Formats: sequence, C-alpha cells, structure tokens
Amino acid sequence: MDVGHQEDHRGNMMDARRDGENALPDEADLQHLERLVLGFMASQALFAGCELGLFDLLAGGALGVGPVSGRLGLSVRGTQRLLDVLVALRLLGATPGPEGELIYALTPLTRACLTREGCASQHHLLRYLGGTTYRLWAHLAEAVREGCHQYARAFGVSNDEEDDLFAAIYRSDDERLRFLSGLQDTWRDSRLTRKLLTAEDMAAFPRVCDLGGGSGELARAWALLYPASAVTVLETPEVVRDVMDKFLPHERVCFMPGDFFRDPLPPADVFILARVLHDWDDTTCAQLLGRVGGACGPGGAVVVVEALLPEEDDFGGDAAEGAWPAWWAWPAVRTRLLSLNMLVQTRGTERSAAQYLDLLAAAGFTRARAHRTGSAYDVIVARK
Ligand SMILES: C[S@@+](CC[C@H](N)C(=O)[O-])C[C@H]1O[C@@H](n2cnc3c(N)ncnc32)[C@H](O)[C@@H]1O
Repeated sequence: MDVGHQEDHRGNMMDARRDGENALPDEADLQHLERLVLGFMASQALFAGCELGLFDLLAGGALGVGPVSGRLGLSVRGTQRLLDVLVALRLLGATPGPEGELIYALTPLTRACLTREGCASQHHLLRYLGGTTYRLWAHLAEAVREGCHQYARAFGVSNDEEDDLFAAIYRSDDERLRFLSGLQDTWRDSRLTRKLLTAEDMAAFPRVCDLGGGSGELARAWALLYPASAVTVLETPEVVRDVMDKFLPHERVCFMPGDFFRDPLPPADVFILARVLHDWDDTTCAQLLGRVGGACGPGGAVVVVEALLPEEDDFGGDAAEGAWPAWWAWPAVRTRLLSLNMLVQTRGTERSAAQYLDLLAAAGFTRARAHRTGSAYDVIVARK
C-alpha cells in the first residue's frame, strides 16, 4: 500500500500526509457553499418581482413574456430572465401556450404571499427588505467592525439622526410608511397571532397597552381574540398621524401619541412589547421595563413578542452529521441572522429566553414563562 495516499470514504484520493484541514471539500459541501453565496441573487429576484409589480400583474391571469414586459414597461430580455429564474425557484409555473411560447402563472404560495392583495401578503415586507435592509447589509463588514448600525453609510443620515435611532429609521415620511407597512405584514396571519396571544389565557386582563405597537395590527388581533378588553396603542406622534391618515385601525383600538421612554404610560393591566426590546441594548431595555413595571399594578403582566435565539450552544445539531444548514437547523440559523440584522439596523439584538427572563426579573416580573411557538415569533408572558 502506498503510505502517502489512500482513498477516502467518498472515493476521493486524499493525501494522507495532509491533515483534514487541507482536504479538498466534497461536492455536497461545495454545493452548500454555492447556495449560500448565490442566495442573495434569489432574494433580489423576489424583491424585484414585487417592486416591478410582476406578481400583482400575474394575479390577474397567466401571461407570456411579451404582455408582461409590455404592460409593465420592462425590457423583454430582462423580463425573460427574471421570469425564468422565478420559475426555477418554483415561485411561478410555466406552461406552453397555443403558439409554443411559455405562459407564466402564479403558484398558490406566490399568490397568497407576494401579491399586494394576497391573503398572507408579505409584499410590503419584501419591499422594505429589498429597499432598505438590503442596502444596510451592503455595509455588514463595517457594522461588524464598528459594532453599530449603518444608516449614515447607506442613506447619508445626519449625525443627529444617527444618534436618535428612530430618526434614522424614519428619515422621511415615505420611509416611515414603508417601515410600518412592512412590519404590519407579519401580523396578517391570524394563525400566528392566535398562537402568540393565546399561549396563555389573557382574558383576565381588561386594560391592554401595546407599547410601540406600530400600525396596530397586533392590537387588532388582541381585540378580536379578547372582545371584552380595551386596547390602547402608544406610539410616536408621527406614527399615530400616519395610522389615522393611511391605515384603517380597528374601531376598538385607541391610539395615544407619546414617548414610552419619557411620557407617563397609560394605566393598563397588561403591556405588550412586540419587537420593541430587540431594538435596544440591555441598559435601555432595563429602563423601559422599569417604567412598565412601575405602571403595572400587582398582578399586572407584560407580553414580550420576539424571535427567541436558541440557547448559546444550540446550533441546530451536529455539523458533522451532514450538509448544513439542513432544514431541521433552520430555526437556529434564522434567529441568528435576525440578530445580525439588529446590529445593522438598530441598537439592539435578538435574545434567548434566558436573557429576556433576566431582564424581566430585574424589573419585578419574576413569574415569567417563555413559549416557543415553532413559528416566526415566540412569546414570553411575565407577571409581577
Ligand atoms: C420594531 S417596531 C415594532 C412595531 C410593532 N410592535 C410590531 O411588532 O409590528 C418598534 C416600534 O416602536 C416605536 N417606538 C420607537 N421609539 C418609541 C418611543 N420612544 N415611544 C413610542 N414608540 C416608539 C416605533 O415607532 C415602532 O413602531
């Protein structure tokens, strides 16, 4: 036997004198890497389909490349390639038409999620991710180097705005509307909101205040699930103005303009903090939770809705088991990506259940329970 060479279990010739670190990767590992590398192109194809109105146009009926490019005012060569990619990604179907040309149609998933009027529409969220988040991620290396968000580099916000997180996020009226519309999309799926808001029965809490409740979509879901409750959303004055002008708040949800760091909080039995704490560092969260703890009477509660990080050592299984990330590992990947996004877009981070429980306990909410839903967001109910 040649002591210098041997065949590995995949049939590749390996130089036994080299250690594992220098071994050539196998095809499966290379494919895994390539999928990750090209993933941003697939995301952009989706974002472009939304931005160009392609999915909305096809919601009216299947069409060939000519009518699609003609009606949307696009180049034929660009449209053809985008349509082809979307078919390959299984976001559109393609069947031959009467003259042999391909006719493109929405799939059930695309109709539900990517059209403006879809029953689970994520259209505005994708527009925000494609228009804002993507541009911030172009500066990920700088964010990691500096440990802070990248609005100044990506959008040229001023020093003052840079210091005031939501002045940077809401740097124009249009941008604030895009943000609110994008976030609202998350709470359109009543299966998700039901899972979150009924993880524990909250019917015993008649007065509810959703702090930083955005357009009021989650508050609306609460009002529907607990018809006897009175729900108030406390939001910044400009968001309250937008909601009154541009959104249709539920008739049983009241809006109150204010600053949750400075103004008195309205009296409530339960406060909701949905995707609010993840915007801020621990010190600022402690300050806000301290205010909430002060406003809640004995027996009061707080409902924290966030995407919970897995505990530190849970990376979704043993990487040596096979190509990563297998689908079973996706939750471990997803929230870590979201946490990196919090670095790029905010002053905060995603946290594990244990980290939230510590913050809540320090504010007097010592009886707390985390509920992992298996969906995009989880919930912690904490009582005094
Ligand atoms: C990430 S968004 C979450 C919105 C909503 N809870 C949701 O889950 O869709 C954070 C919200 O906090 C609001 N906010 C930020 N600072 C605030 C402040 N000082 N007072 C009141 N609301 C504030 C923002 O306007 C924004 O709508």
